[in-house]
Amino acid sequence: MSSTPSKGRPTVLLSVSSFGAAGDGPVRLLESAGFDVIPNPHGRKLREEEIAELIVDADAVIAGTEPLNAAVLERAGRLRVISRVGVGLENVDLNAALRMGIVVRNTPEALTDAVAELTLGGLLSVLRQIGRMDRDMHAGAWERRMGGLLRGRTVGIVGLGRIGRRLAELLHPFEVRIIASDRAPDAGVAAHLGVTYVELDELLAESDVVSLHLPGMSDALIGERELALMKPGSILINASRGGLVDEAALHAAIAEDRLAGAYLDTFATEPYDGPLRELPTVILTPHAGSYAAEARERMETEAVQNLVDALEEFQ
Ligand code: 8YV
Repeated sequence: MSSTPSKGRPTVLLSVSSFGAAGDGPVRLLESAGFDVIPNPHGRKLREEEIAELIVDADAVIAGTEPLNAAVLERAGRLRVISRVGVGLENVDLNAALRMGIVVRNTPEALTDAVAELTLGGLLSVLRQIGRMDRDMHAGAWERRMGGLLRGRTVGIVGLGRIGRRLAELLHPFEVRIIASDRAPDAGVAAHLGVTYVELDELLAESDVVSLHLPGMSDALIGERELALMKPGSILINASRGGLVDEAALHAAIAEDRLAGAYLDTFATEPYDGPLRELPTVILTPHAGSYAAEARERMETEAVQNLVDALEEFQ
């Protein structure tokens, strides 16, 4: 999808390389909106210098997780709207956007089920060593590995927002005890979900499984100290943002058998090529939390709609 810029029509930089991969509805919606579209010529997440170059002529960007920091936004003299396909906004300098009068939109609801379901899949995969036995069999080995039940365990959910809550709902039939930590506890939500709020340290000490569902932060939330507080033999799950976990400290905790394993979908640097790949009880996926076709199509549709609505406000 590309078109020659014409006077009067807004120019949209379609930065998300996978746009349209789940169905052509969002592509058709974008086409019918009548924009001049600059496609992502690299077919992967754009690097800072690449988006800085492409964004110069754009009135709006349909964005993934590429860096939209102050330096990039300063190059974008015409930019009025950033429409994120997704929920996380840590790649966007929101202060710079506000200062420059750039409207920022995201799609916070669209991927909740997809991330919560993948989290549950990763959790069961670690507990029953599904990923490991699959790797064994593909390599020609027939080896039954002992796992454990989820039933009866304590699951600690760090961050009881949309995804954390959906995970709590999905966990119900497993008859687990669910505890949660959140900076804004909500008694109504806790009662409805049958969840007990505790402080993070207590959650780490009591949980058999700790699952993170938070926005990105500048410092790791789970470092050496927090890993040392976790129950021996417990499991860490992170399908939210990579920087939340000190990957070197996690590697040490698993390599020394203090933790039983981990499931990670997000990494401090992506694509990830670090040493956690060498640990057999670690299940890894390539930041694919939202990669359920229904979710991607909804995210992309909402992102186009958000962009159209926001540009209209400028008319
Ligand atoms: C998306 C995500 O895949 O929405 C988010 O914040 O982390 C992911 O699920 C990502 O935004 C790329 O579009």
